[in-house]
Amino acid sequence: MSTTKSIAEQRPAPDAESSSGENLLEVSGLQMHFPIRQGIIFQRQVGAVKAVDGVDFAVKAGESLGLVGESGCGKSTTGRLATRLLEPTGGKIVFDGEDITHKPVAKMREARQNLQMIFQDPYSSLNPRHTVGTIIETPMKLNGINPPQGHKKRAQELLEIVGLNPEHYNRYPNEFSGGQRQRIGIARALALKPKLIVADEPVSALDVSIQAQVVNLLQDLQKEMGIAFLFIAHDLAVVRHFSERVAVMYLGKIVEVGDRRAIYERPRHPYTHALLSSVPEINPAADARERIRLAGDVPSPIDPPSGCRFRTRCWKAQDKCATEEPPLVRIEGNGEGHLTACHFPEEPSITAREEAIVLDPALAALEKAATAAEASKTEAPKADAKADAPKAEASKAEAKAEVPKADAKADEAGKDSK
Ligand SMILES: Nc1ncnc2c1ncn2[C@@H]1O[C@H](COP(=O)(O)OP(=O)(O)O)[C@@H](O)[C@H]1O
Ligand code: SF4
Ligand SMILES: [Mg+2]
Repeated sequence: MSTTKSIAEQRPAPDAESSSGENLLEVSGLQMHFPIRQGIIFQRQVGAVKAVDGVDFAVKAGESLGLVGESGCGKSTTGRLATRLLEPTGGKIVFDGEDITHKPVAKMREARQNLQMIFQDPYSSLNPRHTVGTIIETPMKLNGINPPQGHKKRAQELLEIVGLNPEHYNRYPNEFSGGQRQRIGIARALALKPKLIVADEPVSALDVSIQAQVVNLLQDLQKEMGIAFLFIAHDLAVVRHFSERVAVMYLGKIVEVGDRRAIYERPRHPYTHALLSSVPEINPAADARERIRLAGDVPSPIDPPSGCRFRTRCWKAQDKCATEEPPLVRIEGNGEGHLTACHFPEEPSITAREEAIVLDPALAALEKAATAAEASKTEAPKADAKADAPKAEASKAEAKAEVPKADAKADEAGKDSK
């Protein structure tokens, strides 16, 4: 069975089903202030960690929005709020036309079926005492999904879709490598045929060579099953390949959002510029852009700077930046949908930048393959399906290449489990 075919069967492509262009997820004024309490008997609130502090964004059906920013800026909290694993202290979350902002957990089952999350750490996100089969089947059973072919067969199909062997059904998570565990996590998320997946740094805990395979798999799923993604990452390299639109977050706020080209070629916010600049060059000799090294640490979200939160690290800061918070708007010179929160934005930058951005070698190879595939699509549109199939198969073959490692571990682990 070809992976492409089995994936495509799960859900029609986005333009076949949900091309209305309406927002699947809409978040406005989102806020999460974690209370800080003091006192042993009478606990009183003495402050709050303003992890997310007024965030607006939307994800359309079938699209991928990248959410990028340094560690601690509130990305995971945003993801957990969007999937309602956390209840926000302010703002509004509308998913698939329904306001789920304060929906009681007990009533979230239906929405959560369509709103899944993949976690950063493939080691802690799978229950070590459950078999892979149980891990994948449990969400189906909890949600009353009874596939015609039965739970076991369906779980095995899902294992195949994510490039694992259906025979892994009876194994335990500790018998697998990091990349394979992440694939199990993806199969679990797919079991409910979600409309949106929040992927919270799904590859950062993996070896570079495995990162490309997992990104590739997610991309195949996005294209072929029409699943929308909120793809969280701490740098711009991974999401550039994956997301059509990118939002840049700093200290609980989105400071810039736009389509891929706007963010990578014409960033206007100094922080986006700095993030791009910190990505290494393919060819250091051809340094086509200025290098910006961000000085100092990210300030505490307990007491963020007044006005623009980036001002304590910004080389362009002026008095106005300390007193007036810049709104996230389409400033002069920005294209449609490109919003920037800055009083003194950067000039649209040199076009050479896009060429100068680089990924890890494995991601660079992945990007090269994607560019080649895109070029061949424009030349021969009818060859699409066929061109994709070997890619999916290749991704699967790569995953299987990891298997001997798991098998070796399984032999050892088998001693315990017998
Ligand atoms: N449950 C919590 N209680 C208090 N503070 C939290 C909690 N979860 C996260 N934080 C704080 O919120 C901020 C944002 O965290 P997080 O969303 O994990 O950032 P990121 O994913 O961008 O690294 C951090 O300062 C973190 O310490
Ligand atoms: S508003 Fe001021 S401090 Fe903030 S990013 Fe723009 S120039 Fe820098
Ligand atoms: Mg995080």
